[in-house]
Amino acid sequence: MTDKSIRLTQTVKGAGCAAKLSPGDLDRALCGLDLPVDANLLVGLDRADDAGVYRVSDELALVQTLDFFPPMVDDPFCFGQIAAANALSDIYAMGGIPKTAMNIVAFPAKTMDISILRAVIEGGLDKMREAGVVLVGGHTVEDSELKYGLSVTGYIHPGRILTKKSLQVGDCLILTKPVGTGVVSTAIKAGLADEVVIDRVTLAMATLNRVASLIMVRFTVHACTDITGFGFLGHLAEMVVDSGHGVRITAASVPMYAEALEWAAMGLIPAGAYTNKSFRGSFVDISASVPQNVQDLLFDPQTSGGLLIAVASAEADALVAALKTAGIECAAIVGEVVADPGERIIVE
Ligand code: CO
Ligand code: CO
Ligand code: CO
Repeated sequence: MTDKSIRLTQTVKGAGCAAKLSPGDLDRALCGLDLPVDANLLVGLDRADDAGVYRVSDELALVQTLDFFPPMVDDPFCFGQIAAANALSDIYAMGGIPKTAMNIVAFPAKTMDISILRAVIEGGLDKMREAGVVLVGGHTVEDSELKYGLSVTGYIHPGRILTKKSLQVGDCLILTKPVGTGVVSTAIKAGLADEVVIDRVTLAMATLNRVASLIMVRFTVHACTDITGFGFLGHLAEMVVDSGHGVRITAASVPMYAEALEWAAMGLIPAGAYTNKSFRGSFVDISASVPQNVQDLLFDPQTSGGLLIAVASAEADALVAALKTAGIECAAIVGEVVADPGERIIVE
């Protein structure tokens, strides 16, 4: 039995969301490193994307990723589900099919009952089963703070890899999950969120991007990424940087949790949102008519967020309709790719 008296989010020292190390720090740690060269490495660190891709044959490439983090919800099984869905998402964002996974676990064995770890791993297995993924191993270390995630390997056709960096002018941008999970996680940690909200947002974070990915690859999609720790505008900025193109976003079209909007208006904003804003804010022009709480949610760090898909405009309505038919009801066109201004994000 799991000890329900322990609130997992109270055991996390930081902000309880994915973005802690600032992205600028990470760039400094990696820049100028002497990276190995291999002609079969189709997507590597030099053009970092959601996942790395390595060609095995003309028909098959491996797509590999790893994600792990501390709990943002109190229920250990749900935390495991969310961490697994989040890790699998990078494979789905590239149009890949996940095949195998390994657990990565940090566990405070001196202060936490082992039944909690079991429940976390059961949650992860539940999502792996849904994804058709086989657990092949893992590694556990003792740490002062619980952390869990997966290293995932999938298959992809070397000629059909969806990266962040191939936006085309005229593309419509489609988002498949609401934003605001960072604010909701902050409210959960502060004890402000009721069960109904926690259940709804937990379900959304635990939802695989599998169905969205399987549908998207049937359309003329030019680029895709998933929304996680850098927030909606941070991940969008990664698509825009070096693309040569700009993006126009209609803030009112971006799906957002109503409770997150209320809490953001009260000032309940995770530190990661400010980090994201200071890192990528210089690429973004936000109209003064966009309410401040909406602006804040556009930078809010997400856990297991939706796919952000750039699709040929002629097919955008059909893709949204197909997503909605499959139960992804909040799917919406949130903006378009434009020639001018180049490499800027206009939010109005
Ligand atoms: Co990603
Ligand atoms: Co990732
Ligand atoms: Co080992």
